[in-house]
Amino acid sequence: MRKKITLITGANGEVGHGLINALSEQADSDEIVVLDIRVLDKPMRSKVYEVKVGDILDMQMLETLTNEYEIDTIFHLAALLSTHAEFNPEQAHRVNVQGTINLLRIALEQSRLREKPVKFIYPSSIAVYGLPDLNTKAAARPVKEGEYNTPITMYGMNKLYCEHLGRYYSRHYHQLATTREAYMVDFRCVRFPGLISAITVPTGGTSDFAPEMLHAAASGKPYACFVREDTRIPFMAMPDAVQALLDLADAPVERLSQLVYNVTSFSPTAAELRDLTASAFSGAKITFAPHLQRQGIVDTWPAEVDDTAAKADWGWSPGYDLHHAFEDYLIPTIRQRYQ
Ligand code: SER
Repeated sequence: MRKKITLITGANGEVGHGLINALSEQADSDEIVVLDIRVLDKPMRSKVYEVKVGDILDMQMLETLTNEYEIDTIFHLAALLSTHAEFNPEQAHRVNVQGTINLLRIALEQSRLREKPVKFIYPSSIAVYGLPDLNTKAAARPVKEGEYNTPITMYGMNKLYCEHLGRYYSRHYHQLATTREAYMVDFRCVRFPGLISAITVPTGGTSDFAPEMLHAAASGKPYACFVREDTRIPFMAMPDAVQALLDLADAPVERLSQLVYNVTSFSPTAAELRDLTASAFSGAKITFAPHLQRQGIVDTWPAEVDDTAAKADWGWSPGYDLHHAFEDYLIPTIRQRYQ
């Protein structure tokens, strides 16, 4: 009998750390196997059963993993974020799309082997939206899952296509074969807004201005925000993002009326974020120096998304609104971090 595990890819990223912490508290940490291109940070290692260092493009390594374990659930977090992706679009396509196909393929093989669908939890993003101009953005609030799916970034396109791949591997795989696949993949996806963690600072994203601003202020550094003061996109505190992944994974499949769900918590402007940050850290030096192209990307992302389907189908409800996120989570935790 192979050991039954939960596999987390991209485990050394921001969401990965949060997920490992939550899963290791919730269940037996004996069941978590993590995969990342970089070795897992030391404090995390005791919380998981095995750390694999490897590339999701290495199919042979992934095959070995499937031979070794019975994979029950995959949290496929590995990706190159939107700003990074624009500097190397083809590499981003390989990691974000081919990497995801490889994992879906593994999930399908495992589903066949154990005669039960593997749960495949996939974080997509507000980057899948592409609003044509600021007037449309101001009028289109909140945006539903099926609207404005015309992203302008490689990352957004990759995420949108992978949502479709998830649908293919869970409903239509090999549809012309004489015998229909008996067990496909149980694909479930959340579209995350920008995420703000009190513990880590992200790299390579375009929503990074919010966490960068906060962490700079907390560590006494000046910060020049790369978007305009009136820029508004949805955000969420990291604990809620992790909870969303866990809640979606736990939801009874018959309750899920769609494969892809928006989730959101609050939609402040960059100026509101500055004000909240400055009132918590009195010496904060925050200025605005918009970067034309990065601003151009954020301007195509919605100001607000509609998450009524997630609320109705699997009881999604964020624990933190904007003020609670700052007062109860971000400020106290960040203060402690930089003390
Ligand atoms: N946070 C991501 C990025 O900025 C969006 O999903 O790329």
